[in-house]
Amino acid sequence: MIVLALDPPPSTDPERWCRSILSRVFGHPALAGVKIGLPAIVARGLSWVQSVLRDARDLLKVADLKLADVGAIMRIVLENLASAGFDAAILHAFVGREGALDEAADWAKSHGVKLIAVVSMSHPGSRQFIDRHTSEMVETCLSLGFWGFVAPATRVDMIKLVRKLAPSAKILSPGVGAQGARPGDALRAGADYEIVGRAITRAPDPREAMNRIAEEQRRALESLNR
Ligand code: XMP
Repeated sequence: MIVLALDPPPSTDPERWCRSILSRVFGHPALAGVKIGLPAIVARGLSWVQSVLRDARDLLKVADLKLADVGAIMRIVLENLASAGFDAAILHAFVGREGALDEAADWAKSHGVKLIAVVSMSHPGSRQFIDRHTSEMVETCLSLGFWGFVAPATRVDMIKLVRKLAPSAKILSPGVGAQGARPGDALRAGADYEIVGRAITRAPDPREAMNRIAEEQRRALESLNR
């Protein structure tokens, strides 16, 4: 399953770019969700996002601002994201429970927004600080009712760790394609979704790229079941 990272290049109109890509891949059986990140929202605000998310209909709609603030501020941001049409948001878990994650989780629960915690990242520097605390962060977020976790496709040992600690949470894994992981590697390690951006959005034919990636995912899972 694929969550499509819609990261418009700086020189483009983000709304047109996202809607054009989405129109080419919408309805593909492997497409489970879309993710929009900080660069385009910083550049152009949130208003353009609404029409893109309307096009995404019942797909998972993830805001990837990697929030890391005190609870009261994260609640304001979450409220704005929900008003724009997002139904899930990515937060950094390292801010801790009291006065931060607990307040965000309370708000999210009462407004039906899914929270997803970053507990390991795809770049090598993740080992320096974040990965040293992955297990504690997963436990804290689980106890607060988080829906899912981000763990990197580039280091499947981290996905396996999160899956072991959180058997029924959702795991979303970035790092496929442009960052080097092969489609299917993260799914084999226990992830539910592979987050894929440039390998699809910058391909000459995004639908064909999605077909190819979905087929590689299918083969990887099939070899696991043999
Ligand atoms: P590409 O184009 O590399 O896009 O397929 C990947 C997307 O995923 C985001 N990204 C991450 N998000 N933790 C996250 O929460 C990570 O470790 C991570 N690595 C990449 C990136 O912003 C892009 O949208």
